Amino acid sequence: MTRSFDFAVGRTNPETFPVDKMQRAAHAAIERESEALTNYPGRLGHPGLRAIMAARESEREGVPVDPDAIALMNGSMQAVTLTAEALTVPGDTVICEEFTYSGTIGAYRSLGIEMVGLPLDNDGMRVDLLETTLDRLGATRKPKFIYALTTYQNPSGTVMSNARRKQLISIAENHDIPIVEDNCYGDVHFDGVKPPALYALSDYAKIIYLCSLSKILAPGLRLGYLLARPPLFDQILDRRHDAGGNYLAAAIVAELYRDGVWPLTDHFNESLCVKKNLVVDGLANELDDLCAWSNPAGGLFVWLRYPEDVDQKKLAELAAARNVHFAPGANFHINNEDRPYLRLAFGHVPDEDIRDGIPILAQCIREARTSNAPKEFDGLYE
Ligand SMILES: Cc1ncc(COP(=O)(O)O)c(C=O)c1O
Repeated sequence: MTRSFDFAVGRTNPETFPVDKMQRAAHAAIERESEALTNYPGRLGHPGLRAIMAARESEREGVPVDPDAIALMNGSMQAVTLTAEALTVPGDTVICEEFTYSGTIGAYRSLGIEMVGLPLDNDGMRVDLLETTLDRLGATRKPKFIYALTTYQNPSGTVMSNARRKQLISIAENHDIPIVEDNCYGDVHFDGVKPPALYALSDYAKIIYLCSLSKILAPGLRLGYLLARPPLFDQILDRRHDAGGNYLAAAIVAELYRDGVWPLTDHFNESLCVKKNLVVDGLANELDDLCAWSNPAGGLFVWLRYPEDVDQKKLAELAAARNVHFAPGANFHINNEDRPYLRLAFGHVPDEDIRDGIPILAQCIREARTSNAPKEFDGLYE
């Protein structure tokens, strides 16, 4: 069988999926909740899982979180979409990072939203450019919200610094613009101290916070949530017409997490950190003279910058022929521009495939070059 090296999709590690624990949890949940399962869940969803997610937030952020301020969603993507539907009409403008999650780009585009991107640097979104961007847009194109991937940004892995978080909130509040903080990866954490989530830093009532179970457990469960304050909370939930999310999935996961989310999450993160290090070490061995890449303290991706003289079409062809898959930078650019970046997802890739796949990718990059010019950059952004 031909070997494939699949660094394309942000998935969790199948090797650590807790099969036995899930089976036991499913058994117990079905028995315990048989009556509730014969009903519709309602727009907030399973109370037990909401309480556990409120505790997850509260323990991470050190502030109280009310389970009734949380609505469970069919993955956080449903929250991304409902929020955009509730706050915009076609032709409206939204500010986000210049490179952001491809799923969000697709959703916003199909809703007719015009995305205005702020560049990234090592501290995340360039919030120092926000005020001038708002001036430039003026009253007619005033953004309906700012979408920010504050912690372990997808695709770049950056963490927005504390100072920038405060600056972002302050500018948004002054201009009365809601912020949508998507913290999908916040608990896929390897080392260091994370700055607080925006909602934990401020009383600004227009911070809408999205989180997920896809990255700390499994995307197949389709469980995520929205945390917001009235009236925005209700305004967003008014867009919901599905009678609530999957109650069985929520009940099983609530049972699985009876002792909290951290023991399982910490266990998963250990193996993910090993994989991240294998990617980063492999790149250091192979591409030090040519490329720059992130070494994220969390999340599921390494973001790699390659020389301008790489022929992107040729790189795609060479990699496809050698069964190496990655996500090209253009997928994450709000205007799909072909920038010289690519994203490597490592969460689900077996360790030996990382070890063997990175040298093959490196060879593809070298062969796709159209010159022998020396390295022109030191970091990912300058
Ligand atoms: C930044 C970001 N937000 C949201 C999502 C959607 O995740 P889910 O709907 O599985 O919770 C993803 C998935 O990759 C993501 O990267």
